[in-house]
Amino acid sequence: MKHSKLVVANWKMYLNIHESSLLVQRLDKKIHLHRNVEVVLAPNFLSLYSINQEIDKRKFRLAAQDGFFVDEGAYTGSVSFSQMRQLIDYSIIGHSERRRYFNEGLGEVRDKVAAAVRNQIIPILCVGETKKERALKETKQVLHDQIVTALSNLTSQDVLNLVIAYEPVWAIGSTEPATPSIIEEAVSWIRYQIRELYGSEAEESVRVIYGGSDEPEYVNAIMKVPGVDGLLVGRASLNYEHFSDIISRVHLVALSQENTKAEDS
Ligand code: 13P
Repeated sequence: MKHSKLVVANWKMYLNIHESSLLVQRLDKKIHLHRNVEVVLAPNFLSLYSINQEIDKRKFRLAAQDGFFVDEGAYTGSVSFSQMRQLIDYSIIGHSERRRYFNEGLGEVRDKVAAAVRNQIIPILCVGETKKERALKETKQVLHDQIVTALSNLTSQDVLNLVIAYEPVWAIGSTEPATPSIIEEAVSWIRYQIRELYGSEAEESVRVIYGGSDEPEYVNAIMKVPGVDGLLVGRASLNYEHFSDIISRVHLVALSQENTKAEDS
């Protein structure tokens, strides 16, 4: 299965309903429809419904930033995937900010991934090592543990649509992204894990994207890393000029890769 490139805007807890709506209007004017780039916006829960009503669905899809693993019940303050299934196609799950500030453990992430899939929502599973884990040379072990547990309730069919975001914690909110060689090593390790668990069809079909200080000037280098299918953008997605610039650059990289493939065949 061949997917288009994927660019996800994680607006985190930055915008209120009005600001979210304004940003969508600006993005709509700036961003062109590209058949080879899928653009996904992840507003907060509060804005999901209104943004769903406002967007041009040919241009944008929606993601939640999280969701609870039970579908319905006495869980004050939570929003379930089943409640959001009419509004979203994707959900970010296991973002390092949730693991860190909300104490989300491996088991909770696993249950959320299963709940999203049960509700026909595609998980964007975030994985990545901290600075300390990298210094201790634990990156591969950390990625292995995060992936193996998170996917443990999924079938090989479920995994075909999955998105995994490699977000090294030390590169989030930083001045520069991880280097292409670091990204390449991690992404190939992530794909290897998928092959070991689900075989080579799943390995090829899974989309692996990179997040952590994605700014327009870094897009070419990151998108050319073998195995990288897109970006999970934080701060730069709040600026409509930067984000639309990112989309155009991803589109150009995708075009040149298509041309190279056509010449090779
Ligand atoms: P920044 O792009 O602000 O570093 O955030 C990355 C991120 O956490 C996306 O999920």
